[in-house]
Amino acid sequence: MPGLSLLLAVVALGLISIFLRRLRHNLPPGPKPAPLLGNLHQHPKSLQWLHLYHWSKKYGPVMHLSMGGQPLVILSTHQAAHDLLSKRSVRYSDRPRMVMAGELVTKGMHMLLRPYDEWYRLHQRMEAPHLNLRSASAYRPLQDMESRQLLFDVLHEYSEVGAKGVDFHHHFERAMASFIYCVNYGYRLKTGYEQELMDGKRVQAEFARTGQVGAYLVDSFPSLNYLPKALAPWKKEAEELRNSPSILGILADANLDTSTVALDWFIVAWITSGSRWVAKAQSLLDEVVGRDRLPTFEDRPKLAYIDAIASETLRWRPVVVGGVPHFTMTEDTYMGYHIPANSIVLANGFAITRDESVFGGDVDNFIPERWLADENGHNMNMNKEPAMARMLWAFDVEAGVDEKTGQRHKVDDMDCTEGFVKLPKLFRAEMRPRGQRVRDVILRSGTTHDIDHAEVLSRTSRERR
Ligand code: HEM
Repeated sequence: MPGLSLLLAVVALGLISIFLRRLRHNLPPGPKPAPLLGNLHQHPKSLQWLHLYHWSKKYGPVMHLSMGGQPLVILSTHQAAHDLLSKRSVRYSDRPRMVMAGELVTKGMHMLLRPYDEWYRLHQRMEAPHLNLRSASAYRPLQDMESRQLLFDVLHEYSEVGAKGVDFHHHFERAMASFIYCVNYGYRLKTGYEQELMDGKRVQAEFARTGQVGAYLVDSFPSLNYLPKALAPWKKEAEELRNSPSILGILADANLDTSTVALDWFIVAWITSGSRWVAKAQSLLDEVVGRDRLPTFEDRPKLAYIDAIASETLRWRPVVVGGVPHFTMTEDTYMGYHIPANSIVLANGFAITRDESVFGGDVDNFIPERWLADENGHNMNMNKEPAMARMLWAFDVEAGVDEKTGQRHKVDDMDCTEGFVKLPKLFRAEMRPRGQRVRDVILRSGTTHDIDHAEVLSRTSRERR
């Protein structure tokens, strides 16, 4: 019966190919695309993260959008992000072609915007020894120095401006930048207005703006880049950006905005919902530390609640809310859906940090207690946690008084800037020392700019070996 076997084989092959075709068309759900444009016209130009969050409620953990034919896959639960970006990282670690930010502006030199190749992996291997837990503890003397300086600077400005409030963003930025510049380049920043920092910030702001998915048409249609300069205004813009001075390295870049902005959101949470958690944190600090010395790293095992506040800050207002785009060059299947080859894959940060199966209920509110059951600490907190503990120990915080109206600034906890890193709209905050004893300790601790940081750095590098 060779004829029958042949017939069966043909039928089986036919069925398999129909099945594969079905599977291939079984894209994850998403908003209905228009011909040619796909979802390009629906992709929001502002508050993308909030739109993606709302869409994820409607379309589920894995969503598909077409950006003029370019597949964009959005992962909106912890499970989906972990399954693909972490467990299948070999397949998902590439980066999409970012013509504007990655090629024209940074010429393939920025780690977050370049392909995942040997060069990239070499970079990762070079960074790894600086980012593990052992290194993190070797940086403690520097963190101690910068967080002491932070208290001193805030107290100093408060004594001058009183209820008008201090420019806390500036103080956080100086402290975080000074720490990372000291580790990376060997010098500290005294005022936070140094030219090197100003240049670095400008470059970083441009990177954030030009690196957003959908920000430039040429990113969706790379062939547009063959147009002559006269018809391609982005080329002139890229040239100007490329000519601006930059000393940023990935590590400085990675720490600068992220840690500062997390501390800014911590102050927003303090002002808008602190009545629920600040008193608890401060009475713990009074009990463990007292008011006659600064909190130190040795106190940390007894200050789990402060760690929880740091983690909750990152969850409540994720700083890199839209994630950094990943890219997959081969097709894949997940939850029965077809993930096409050459998809841009984004972790939907605002949705993931509101994943009730991981974080429990009431996800829009700032509730540090949700972290206490789960010892989930990681060293992203390394630079912020000491600053947070010391700020809570040192000050009572309220929104500053607007000199024009005589009223305190209204602080809206959803009011934020656009861009890769999401900053709260800035305002001044009154930061009153918690009594004379606290004030005396900060003044006695004094400025740290007279410390020999080169000696501290060489001690740090000896300890890392
Ligand atoms: C609030 C603090 C921080 C946040 C929110 C943050 C967020 C992120 C995100 C979203 C990425 C992209 C991950 C991806 O590929 O999907 C990233 C990458 C990276 N971050 Fe951070 N980061 C923070 C602090 C730091 C610090 C303190 C350092 C080191 C000093 C650092 C070093 C890096 C490096 C080296 C990468 C590239 C990793 C790689 O591709 O191998 N980050 N960060």
